[in-house]
Amino acid sequence: MDVKEIRAQALKKIDELHPKTDRDLAELKTYFFGKNGVLTGLMKSLKVLPPEQKPQVGKDINDLRVELAGICAELEKDIHRIAIEQAINSQELDLSIDRPEHAIGSVHPLNRVRRMLTDYFVGNGYIVYDSPEIETDYYNFQALNVPPDHPARDMQDTFFINDNILLRTQTSSGQIRLMEKYKPPLKMICPGRVFRNDDDSTHSPVFHQMEGLVIDKNVTLCDLKGALDGFAKFIFGEQTQIRFRPSYFPFTEPSVEVDVSCFNCHGKGCRVCKNTGWIEILGAGMVNRKVLQNCGIDPDEYHGFAFGMGLDRITMILCAINDIKLMWENDVRFLHMFK
Ligand code: PHE
Repeated sequence: MDVKEIRAQALKKIDELHPKTDRDLAELKTYFFGKNGVLTGLMKSLKVLPPEQKPQVGKDINDLRVELAGICAELEKDIHRIAIEQAINSQELDLSIDRPEHAIGSVHPLNRVRRMLTDYFVGNGYIVYDSPEIETDYYNFQALNVPPDHPARDMQDTFFINDNILLRTQTSSGQIRLMEKYKPPLKMICPGRVFRNDDDSTHSPVFHQMEGLVIDKNVTLCDLKGALDGFAKFIFGEQTQIRFRPSYFPFTEPSVEVDVSCFNCHGKGCRVCKNTGWIEILGAGMVNRKVLQNCGIDPDEYHGFAFGMGLDRITMILCAINDIKLMWENDVRFLHMFK
């Protein structure tokens, strides 16, 4: 047995096969190192050699193994390098081309307004309360002093899921849940989605409200006016005036509709205020005694005020948006206007 000759054969085989792919290389490795490979054959024949020759031939075989393994490793590197080069060349990467502009996101105007109002009220000691969107008739109506068949239900065309379960039409349901859970004094806002079967350019079946509720001893209509006056000045500017107009909600008594002086024309009359000088922004009032009783609060000991505003409406006024649908369409051109 001549290791040198086997080595020469092996090198010739590499030249012949000239491996270009992983598959060629695997074939070559099997030829060298496989079960029936040349090195295995050499090792077998080592056994039958006279003992005095074994150490030298054993060393020669081992040297050959190391040499061939090194060659295979080099070949493997070449194969991979060539594969990568080919992939790059075939893609014709053109590094001179202009990259597309990265679109930078922005906060949706509705969320901006919600955050701004939330900051204001939290800064004034209100907690933020989250109340369910799917409600029972009791929390959305009855506990708020709107019994079944009450005509006030007409104003809130409701999506009923069954006779008892509905999508809340107002965040006022959050008032009841809060008063059931916590003892007065209370100061909370409850922002969230509400649902009504309405659909035109200023009404969407899904819209957003922010409820406010304050319950304490000796709370009066003056406190309501002070709270809303501060709020209006914060949102629409220091010169803003508010006015109360008598209104009706079953859950407040007395009830008011609140207008702010037009921030655009300061009362002279313009498109924003439809030439009236005033913009209606919310409904409010003193919490009805019956509502307090329904929640286990003694109406002779505690009084409170509540208000509810449409966040979409306030956003539309502030951002001069004329169609509520724009808020939902996710047209990036619209969203980019409010960066
Ligand atoms: N929930 C009333 C509405 O949706 C608004 C409101 C809230 C009025 C709280 C008074 C007090 O129209």
